[in-house]
Amino acid sequence: MTTYDPKVTPWQIDADQFPKDWPLEAQLRFLLGYAILAPSSHNSQPWRFTISPSRIDIHADEKGWLKVADPERRELFMSLGCALENLLVAAERFGLAHETSYLPDRNDESLAAAVTFHESGQRSAFRDPRLFPAITRRHTNHQVYEDSHLDDDLLERLEACCVEEGIDLLLTADLETKHRVDDLVVRGDAIQFARPEYREELGFWIGQGVFGSSWLMSKLGQLAVTHMNLGKSQAKKDSAVLMSSPVLGVISCRANSREMQLRAGQLYQRLSLLAAVHGVWCQPMSQVIQVSELQRELADLTPKPKSTPVLVFRMGRAAPEKEHTPRRALEEVLA
Ligand SMILES: Cc1cc2nc3c(=O)[nH]c(=O)nc-3n(C[C@H](O)[C@H](O)[C@H](O)COP(=O)(O)O)c2cc1C
Repeated sequence: MTTYDPKVTPWQIDADQFPKDWPLEAQLRFLLGYAILAPSSHNSQPWRFTISPSRIDIHADEKGWLKVADPERRELFMSLGCALENLLVAAERFGLAHETSYLPDRNDESLAAAVTFHESGQRSAFRDPRLFPAITRRHTNHQVYEDSHLDDDLLERLEACCVEEGIDLLLTADLETKHRVDDLVVRGDAIQFARPEYREELGFWIGQGVFGSSWLMSKLGQLAVTHMNLGKSQAKKDSAVLMSSPVLGVISCRANSREMQLRAGQLYQRLSLLAAVHGVWCQPMSQVIQVSELQRELADLTPKPKSTPVLVFRMGRAAPEKEHTPRRALEEVLA
């Protein structure tokens, strides 16, 4: 991992700088500036990109794989899906047509997607034009959310983000369901934080400064997480923020394939961008998904218990976080 220069951040990308009179390849490079603003588990940014004259390949970067928290690489592929969605939203903003081929090389799953672009394209009906400016505003918000419900009209529009075949989205304000998911989160924290290898991995990423703290705070955070079982205090905090949230979301896949994980990531990103348009923030709570017995219990709380939940998150309004989390510079993730 590299050190970040807080003075020049990828978040300062300016749409007016789009090189519209330059060759397509230069335009694609510009679009990647938006792809890298995507969320990823532990902000591990597990992506690498290659650009050819009219195509971008998205590769999984093993260095960003959370071997302990995410042994099946599910979160890794979902994070790549989030980056892919940002890329497509940006492409549509600048009038480019695109076509995505998922896992195009049967022998190499690290090539997650290949996107071919053409000049002049139509915007997809399900990609609201307001998603684009939300790319630089969206963030994961970890605060207690306001005690105000999300109105039905907004919930319907958020639900309409789910256009993926084979993927189900549940958005619920049901108190009983919230209590039951809360119980799963508390148990998930206890199970994960009791594992020294889990704490060590989380500590490593905290120590890299990926959550935006200063160098000193990152190193102190790393020490604390690695050497103390903070499961109880984490569970208390998670429970408070979850119960403050007016809406809980669960994304489930009918087939738990890599392509579905990528598409689930795209859905989460589209949904969190649309939420950001309305001043609503999201926070995934992955400890439930990471423990298979809790993941199965979560499935039973959804209308499609045979599907596999791949992401659970809370939604609501709150003051925006003060700073964005850091991103690696584009040059570092270009192959
Ligand atoms: C697949 C996935 C799983 C995530 N799981 C969690 C989680 O369990 N808890 C959490 O607080 N944030 C979670 N996040 C959010 C990331 O920590 C966050 O995206 C990252 O730190 C970058 O910050 P940003 O979203 O504010 O840009 C997850 C994100 C993704 C894409």
